[in-house]
Amino acid sequence: MSPFLLTRTLPVDATDAALRADVLHGLTRHPKTLPPKWFYDAHGSELFEEITRLPEYYPTRAEREILIDRADEIARASGARTLIELGSGSSEKTRHLLDALPALHSYVPVDVSESALRGAAEALLAERPELSVHALIADFTGGLALPGTPGPRLIAFLGGTIGNLLPDGRAAFLKSVRSLLSPGDALLLGTDLVKEEKVLVAAYDDAAGVTAEFNRNVLRVVNRELGADFDPAGFDHVALWDPGQEWIEMRLRARRAHTVKIPALDLVVGFEAGEEVRTEVSAKFRREGVRAELDTAGLRLDQWWTDSGGRFALSLATAV
Ligand code: AVJ
Repeated sequence: MSPFLLTRTLPVDATDAALRADVLHGLTRHPKTLPPKWFYDAHGSELFEEITRLPEYYPTRAEREILIDRADEIARASGARTLIELGSGSSEKTRHLLDALPALHSYVPVDVSESALRGAAEALLAERPELSVHALIADFTGGLALPGTPGPRLIAFLGGTIGNLLPDGRAAFLKSVRSLLSPGDALLLGTDLVKEEKVLVAAYDDAAGVTAEFNRNVLRVVNRELGADFDPAGFDHVALWDPGQEWIEMRLRARRAHTVKIPALDLVVGFEAGEEVRTEVSAKFRREGVRAELDTAGLRLDQWWTDSGGRFALSLATAV
């Protein structure tokens, strides 16, 4: 069996330092914010997996439909020997792609969740024992150092996670992706599409309340990691559509006025009744916007596929 390598691309305490910086910055400004990457501890990653199975949360199923239909085309067009997956999570959808790439040499999953990376690699190696799997625990929005695996490279960024970035962040991110590719290498990008507001809001405010728990989980992470005393039940889950920006926002709304102690930061944070913390932006896209953003980064949109319902798109772009 090929070795399974797991590399932390950051010093062990970097995650902790980043969390501290994000919490300090986000909770001492108005409006308050917390970045979505802190949802994903082991429990949060499980809740997200549960979200992907909810009737209201269509993106995962829509993207899987496209991947199943187009895996052969993607494999042929890219000829990839190394598949790098940013924000790989459970790597479940990626199987379809891996199955279409029998000559693949290396799979490089990149995620902030070590538990998700280990689980995914174990399941994958059971099916493809000859594959070299080199997992990276990393925040893919920072500069990545990739292992020296053979080209051509295909970078996959699925699930619509690019929508978590604001426009400036997306531009910087796409540039950094381009810098990891040689001309002719490719990017496979999943984007959720603009659609009817009620469909979008329902996807982020499901009847079973799983997304609400996922949202509140960021408070549990801050409690555990920074010794804070957030009462997650003291916050309501809010999901709303911003038609100007064309993005969904998730927020946590304080049910009453209270203060929260965060000992690791030597900080006391006051909340007014009804005050909100923005915990996630999930931007939705249109074809021309995606094309323009790729173009600016030196990536040429070659293929645009949607699911039969036109809800979600996969773009295949080539580094120029
Ligand atoms: C993993 C970022 C694609 O924005 O739809 C799901 C995360 N948040 N439900 C998304 C999420 C609430 C998801 N991404």
